[in-house]
Amino acid sequence: MRVLIDGVPVEEHEAVISVFDWGVMRGFGVFEVVRCYGSVPFRLDAHLDRLERSATALGIAMPDRGLLRRWICELTESQGQGHVRVILTGGGRDESVDARPRAIVMWEPPPELPAAFRLLPIAAPWHPGTDAGGFPGVKWTSYAPNMASTDKAQRAGFDDALLIGSNGIVLEGPTFTVAWVHDGRIETPSLDAGILQSITRDVMIECADRLGIPVSQGHFPLDRLLGSDEAFALSTLKQVMPIEGVGEVDIELGPVTSKLAGSFEELVRIETAE
Ligand SMILES: Cc1ncc(COP(=O)(O)O)c(C=O)c1O
Repeated sequence: MRVLIDGVPVEEHEAVISVFDWGVMRGFGVFEVVRCYGSVPFRLDAHLDRLERSATALGIAMPDRGLLRRWICELTESQGQGHVRVILTGGGRDESVDARPRAIVMWEPPPELPAAFRLLPIAAPWHPGTDAGGFPGVKWTSYAPNMASTDKAQRAGFDDALLIGSNGIVLEGPTFTVAWVHDGRIETPSLDAGILQSITRDVMIECADRLGIPVSQGHFPLDRLLGSDEAFALSTLKQVMPIEGVGEVDIELGPVTSKLAGSFEELVRIETAE
């Protein structure tokens, strides 16, 4: 079985929660997606730390970390290569109904991904665009605008969207971070743009450091990405994924992206050796 609700294994067709849960009614919940290589979860502590920060921001109780860790490992050990999604729901507020907050832990197979991404820039006035928005970096289940942006980009024939802030700066993808290269230097939006503190972005910065590639974090207009030598997307599921085009502009696949991808894989190999 690949779904645990509050630690109890349930068949897929019985993996249900109350419609009175605010997780369902209002997108009031938090989540994480942890990649497992073989049966070993990668950077599990960083994911649990972020889950705890997100839960605290919304006032959702964080289950015991030891228990969560055990549930995640139970699934990675029984299912293997893939990823584990952890969702903490907010629970219901209608006292006449039992709709306790739930901890859902579910395994999903590796997604099919293209070799490179083509992104459609989309204005995202709904994105905070700042870390002063009250809930900076919270990974909540209120992802409707993100997913609607992905759908819009895909309807237009692109792989995904690139979210652009009201002031014209590049923010992030709906489910990934972006970075690009100018004259051997990596540039990536800074966290004070209200983007998610991506764990893959942190790993990429570590890898760049090892490789001696300088990284600048800041607020960059779209033109900076459009005129880049190479560009890539970063996420738990995509790792380091080349970006081959943004809007109508083609971007070369390049050596910095491949070096980073190689260094990333090497780090994964070391940290997830069984
Ligand atoms: C909005 C957003 N930005 C960036 C990322 C990448 O984060 P991570 O590298 O921790 O998977 C995600 C991942 O889901 C995301 O949802």
